[in-house]
Amino acid sequence: MPILQRPRGTRDFLPDEMEPRRAIEDVMRETAGLWGYREVGTPVFEEAELFTIRSGQGILNEMYVFEDKGGRALALRPEITAAVQRMFVNEAKVLPRPLRWFYFSDCFRYERPQKGRYRQFWQFGAELIGAGTPRGDAEVIMLADAIIRSAGLSYTLEIGNLSFVRSLIKSQTHEIRHKIMGFLDKRDEKQLIDFLRSEGLIDLYDSLNHLIKATQLDEIFQVTGDIPEKDDIKSFFSLLDASGIEYTLNPGIARGLDYYTGMVFEGFAEGLGTENQILGGGAYRLAHLFGGEDTASCGFAIGFDRVIVALGLTNTRKGPVVAILLTPDGENKAFIVANELRAAGFIVEIDLYSRGLGAQMTHASKGADYAVIIGKNEILQNKVTLKDLKTKEQSLCSIEDAIIRMKSFDNRG
Ligand code: HAM
Repeated sequence: MPILQRPRGTRDFLPDEMEPRRAIEDVMRETAGLWGYREVGTPVFEEAELFTIRSGQGILNEMYVFEDKGGRALALRPEITAAVQRMFVNEAKVLPRPLRWFYFSDCFRYERPQKGRYRQFWQFGAELIGAGTPRGDAEVIMLADAIIRSAGLSYTLEIGNLSFVRSLIKSQTHEIRHKIMGFLDKRDEKQLIDFLRSEGLIDLYDSLNHLIKATQLDEIFQVTGDIPEKDDIKSFFSLLDASGIEYTLNPGIARGLDYYTGMVFEGFAEGLGTENQILGGGAYRLAHLFGGEDTASCGFAIGFDRVIVALGLTNTRKGPVVAILLTPDGENKAFIVANELRAAGFIVEIDLYSRGLGAQMTHASKGADYAVIIGKNEILQNKVTLKDLKTKEQSLCSIEDAIIRMKSFDNRG
């Protein structure tokens, strides 16, 4: 019988990996909470249609779609935004706006696995529903930045607005517009030029190229002229500038998903190779496509797994860890002492095998900070033997004294 393996593109997380993941997740949750964002959850699978309506071909090609026993076409969620908007339409239409929601959820995309790219991956995201103002857009970016920085990661942030490119190609057919945005998203200049040439649109290249290379708003508006969004875009950027947030303007950001309407942004971290995008988001509208009212929204998702890879985290197990060693006489007492120590906040593990104290001690020194020994003598005296596994100091003391000594764990040399 061959050894069964986990599916390609998925990962197992041993405790040394799971614990730092949880610690970072908690920091992110806490930061989102400080901004008034509250956590939501949606189903792991949805009606496939939810994602086919407006997510774009890129996502559709990668979707896990299946039919359930009732013949329904379902999909494992490839992202959370569409699900959150569906939930908003289903459950939360009457709640006071804006709604500030965040999520931490796994997503599924049938992509070719490599470092930082998985078929099951986690997103930490937020959606601001019903604002649609420059201030709202600015808040969303500032929140994304605060969350990434609170996790201890430095990264670069690029911000653009789809209206820039769209203003240059608005007279083209939907298909041509779509193709152009696709090449921009992939940052593939050669394919863009080939495509424009084949469509007899090479004249467009000059202005597109001028636009996507621009680094200042004024330069951008010289190419686009007075677009209707100009004032909002200016107030949005002046809010960001006042906040001191670090970013670069990138008028060429196109985003892979189709639902964006205006401001868009992406974040990149080092040490990840080609899969270095750790953040993506922007302003969008989806609610009206799901039977709700047209509602301006803005949000982002952080690629949690990429953040963890970029941080290069190692085990963060909180100490001290106490190993309880016992002789057969100490068995009943060991469980009582263990609970007293747990109540005092220690991580406690009782030896479960009938082996000698020497073997128990060897095992304890591999992971624990203290050994608490309970044998016949300790029971008679109603005490425990406490051994500091780092300093090797050992003494017979009351359980209360043992607790006091172990509490000074962090102050040991
Ligand atoms: P997205 O850019 O498709 O946007 O995904 C967001 C982030 O998820 C990416 O920047 C990346 O870090 C991470 N990611 C994507 N695919 C994978 C993968 N296969 N393995 C590991 N990480 C991955 C969205 O999903 C939008 N829903 C973001 C958004 C929220 N827009 C508005 N609100």
